[in-house]
Amino acid sequence: MRIYLIGFMGCGKSTLGRKLAAFSGMQFIDMDKFIEERYRKTVPQIFAEEGELEFRKKERKVIEELSVFQDIIIATGGGAPCFFDNMELMNKTGLTVYLNIHPEILSARLLKSKTERPLIKGKTYDELVKYIEDTLDKRDKYYKKARLCISKPDADIESVMEMIRKNAD
Ligand code: S3P
Repeated sequence: MRIYLIGFMGCGKSTLGRKLAAFSGMQFIDMDKFIEERYRKTVPQIFAEEGELEFRKKERKVIEELSVFQDIIIATGGGAPCFFDNMELMNKTGLTVYLNIHPEILSARLLKSKTERPLIKGKTYDELVKYIEDTLDKRDKYYKKARLCISKPDADIESVMEMIRKNAD
């Protein structure tokens, strides 16, 4: 089984991924961390020194690499499904699970988060809500291609795993 968790920054992909991995015994991989190790640079460094397009190309290469790993739960970067035919590749090679969270909740979480995210750096709460709503407008059509949509990723882990198992066959 191969599971791709997708969704906006701050939707809880890594937190859910880690819990699902602990529960199921599968391996967990955070795609941004994988990119940082592979290229020996942080995500903000790649954005600043090489630009977003280069980051997206690296992201694509890493999806290709991970798409042959076995028994793995992958937390993808928030923009990953929205570039090239990444969503098609992920749908072909695993179960895509979209974590659908309200912009105001995302905004509050992102303000508290310690992870540096180049696309939202320095934004206030209101600016963030606006950015998230505008970006979600553009990203929705990609996220909606996910095989499974979960709007309560913090529900008990057993029921989330059950939903995933049912949709994995
Ligand atoms: C991005 C999301 C980030 C990271 C990069 C770009 C995006 O990942 O890949 O900063 O375009 O939404 P998280 O969703 O893990 O924060």
